[in-house]
Amino acid sequence: MFSTQLASSPPASNLSLQKQQEWDEFLVNFFGNGPLSISPLQAIFEPLRNPTLDDMVVVGQIGQTLDGRIATVTGQSRYVNGLTGLTHLHQLRALVDAVVIGVGTALADDPQLTVRQIKGRNPARVVIDPRARLSHQHLVWQDDGVKKIWIVAEGVTASPPPQVELIMLPAVSGAIDPALILKSLNLHSLKRVLIEGGAETVSRFIVAKCLDRLHLIVAPIIMGSGRLSFNLPPIEHMDQALRLAIQTHQLGNDVVFDCDLQTQRVALNTK
Ligand SMILES: NC(=O)c1ccc[n+]([C@@H]2O[C@H](COP(=O)([O-])OP(=O)(O)OC[C@H]3O[C@@H](n4cnc5c(N)ncnc54)[C@H](OP(=O)(O)O)[C@@H]3O)[C@@H](O)[C@H]2O)c1
Repeated sequence: MFSTQLASSPPASNLSLQKQQEWDEFLVNFFGNGPLSISPLQAIFEPLRNPTLDDMVVVGQIGQTLDGRIATVTGQSRYVNGLTGLTHLHQLRALVDAVVIGVGTALADDPQLTVRQIKGRNPARVVIDPRARLSHQHLVWQDDGVKKIWIVAEGVTASPPPQVELIMLPAVSGAIDPALILKSLNLHSLKRVLIEGGAETVSRFIVAKCLDRLHLIVAPIIMGSGRLSFNLPPIEHMDQALRLAIQTHQLGNDVVFDCDLQTQRVALNTK
């Protein structure tokens, strides 16, 4: 354990009353197309307000250590980031229509994917689960009135829990095209989307050039082993590596790298 914080401490809101009020005002303006003059919220979140290429905005997030790990060797990731980083994640959730995770995260963490640290509405919850491995008992399926979508490969037998919509998409060698996933969500009027993890899911969206932005939230922790943040095809030369335009923001002890991927994003032809 290298961090001076307790990495498994339970979350609790850490925003001052003033910061909470600023957030509330920001949220109203973000959705009401009002001016976003509140710093630093404007700098971090304004790029997520309006689509540029089609009618979707897709942001990925990864919370990682200094040495690029998102979880221990046993898959435990609570909590890589400090409270401010966690609040940032909940702010992202509050700004999007849908939050998407891979089944690996649903099985490992059993997350709720709700907005609890700050004010905001809960986004729709989407799990990419080509082999329909998720059971009805997982918390993402809790019946709280929020739209829930289970994405499964065509031809796989899946009986969704009550109130969960099943979307079956073609898979090639088990892989579903992320662009197809986004187009399906668009048909459900889910146009601002957070790809919350894990590594495999976010990596597939990067490879498919389907992210507008990536928020990489780096915590001052060295894990020294464990799951890596990304799994991209191997390259031989440095000039083949993905070089990104970034802005950085300090979030308590964490630093968010807001990576701009718009130059490589493919159009989804959803307009
Ligand atoms: N630090 C963080 O920010 C963060 C965030 C989330 C999760 N995590 C951690 O990350 C770990 C889980 O990450 P992970 O990389 O193992 O799993 P994951 O990304 O959550 O899920 C990967 C699985 O989802 C399915 N999947 C995702 N995209 C797909 C696509 N386009 N087509 C077909 N299938 C797709 C596949 O399921 P099949 O295997 O059935 O083919 C794939 O193996 C956990 O330890 C969790 O605690 C950390």
